[in-house]
Amino acid sequence: MRNVTISTTAIVKDSVIGEGSQIWEFANVYGAKIGENTKIGSYVEIQNNTCIGNDAIISSHSFICSLVTIEDNVFIGHGVMTVNDLYPPSKRRTGSDEDWKPTLIKKNAIIGSNATLMPVVIGENSIVGAGAVVTKDVPDNCIVAGNPAKIVKYLPNITKTNEARAMKILLADLKLQHSKIREELDAAITKVVDDCSFIMSEQIAEFENNFAEYCQAKHVIGVSNGTSAISLALEACGIKEGDEVITTPHTFIATTEAISKVGAKIKFVDIEEKTHLMDITKIEAAITENTKAIIPVHLNGLMCNMSKIRELADRHNLKIIEDSAQAHGALYNNNPPGFHSDAATFSFFPGKNLGAFGDAGAVITNNDQIAEKIRMLRNHGRKLGEKHNHEIEGYNERLDSIQAAVLKVKLQYLNEWNKQRIQNAQLYQKHLDSSKMVLPYVPDGYRHVYHQYVIRVKDRERLTHFLKESGISFGINYPIPLHLQPAYAYLGYKTGDFPIAERLTKEIISLPMFPELSEEQIKYVAEKVNEFLKKNNE
Ligand SMILES: Cc1ncc(COP(=O)(O)O)c(C=O)c1O
Repeated sequence: MRNVTISTTAIVKDSVIGEGSQIWEFANVYGAKIGENTKIGSYVEIQNNTCIGNDAIISSHSFICSLVTIEDNVFIGHGVMTVNDLYPPSKRRTGSDEDWKPTLIKKNAIIGSNATLMPVVIGENSIVGAGAVVTKDVPDNCIVAGNPAKIVKYLPNITKTNEARAMKILLADLKLQHSKIREELDAAITKVVDDCSFIMSEQIAEFENNFAEYCQAKHVIGVSNGTSAISLALEACGIKEGDEVITTPHTFIATTEAISKVGAKIKFVDIEEKTHLMDITKIEAAITENTKAIIPVHLNGLMCNMSKIRELADRHNLKIIEDSAQAHGALYNNNPPGFHSDAATFSFFPGKNLGAFGDAGAVITNNDQIAEKIRMLRNHGRKLGEKHNHEIEGYNERLDSIQAAVLKVKLQYLNEWNKQRIQNAQLYQKHLDSSKMVLPYVPDGYRHVYHQYVIRVKDRERLTHFLKESGISFGINYPIPLHLQPAYAYLGYKTGDFPIAERLTKEIISLPMFPELSEEQIKYVAEKVNEFLKKNNE
């Protein structure tokens, strides 16, 4: 036996001892099988028909009787006694093993000093307190103590935690994205700093031109964030106090904050089950003589049916402002946001498909008057190039130059990134068991750009715990429909008003989605989701 250390005072007979194991003074080992790198302390007795795994420690003075199995990585304290006969027969002893019962100590378990183990199973990662007398099986991941031993605490599942540590999957991984284009980003930021061109610089105009080309739009006006993009677009479209604006309750609150900002009243309509988007068939019933605009929200990266909304808006003389904060690069019948509407707004919040290094946004429009008005509103009511002449009272809602410089670099990669998101969605579709959950729906003729990959499940809360334990990040966008938010109690809506939004918000969960996600990661996420739903549906 190579690399095995056995003290000269120890007695080792008829046993197999694995490499790297050590047996200390006066230990008595017979008929045992001991794995690698295991340590057997002084005065330990190990009987025949025992099996001890790798990397275990059996501390001095312990007694390991026949039929005990000790798995890898177990720690046995000093003076631990195992017992293999529930009712020792004393004088009636026949010498037969038949009445003997096995004991199993599963991997990573810890047995405190002077504990006594009757023939039991000690679960994986569990701890037996010092001096405990264990008379019943101990489940995985818990602490038992006392005589007779009782469970005093449940522990986190360290096997799962270790697996999770090994496979930690983020919902989105911006570090990875940035590491690939770091030099270009650094150079673009350095140029702004070197030129001290922080406000309304050429960086803004360059990004606006490039984004206009990308969106096939006549005008792009860079603004401070996606929320102000919506309110500026509404204001430029003439929406004001007393007007009503129709939108969806299943969106980020920014959409409706913008409506309130211009003094208009929010009107909700329910969403469609399949697409999670505003149900166009319900818009007409919500229109009153005060209705002046519709804000369709292209949630998760899927556009609304814009020709139907246009047709409806034309019939009722309504403006359309598309909230495209989650839909950079999305298409409906080959047309991007902005094509069918008066204006479309974008957020460049860092986690978006096209994200800045802070807050940023834009409005796109093909309407010269709307563009001109927004250009003035964002910059204290000044026309482009004016310094001291304020045509109107505006705001400070400009896009800043560092953000524009970052966005200009990143825009070059947007198509490639969106393509990767779409491929990742196809892989999810391949690996997720669609009989146990509802996968994203993409109508014919639409290009979904998967800002979020949203599935629907029945037992979401428990799935979220399971995913956390498995090292998988997730998102819930959004768990409370806006009509039930305290902020909108004054609107007088109640539970039951928009049943589809109310139900879906309890079932949705966004799985990790970013361009650089690997197939291995997608498979792991899908396996875990499938595993949970299979167990749950049994
Ligand atoms: C649908 C939607 N609208 C508007 C916004 C607001 O954008 P910003 O955070 O840039 O103000 C967001 C941002 O999360 C959004 O998701």
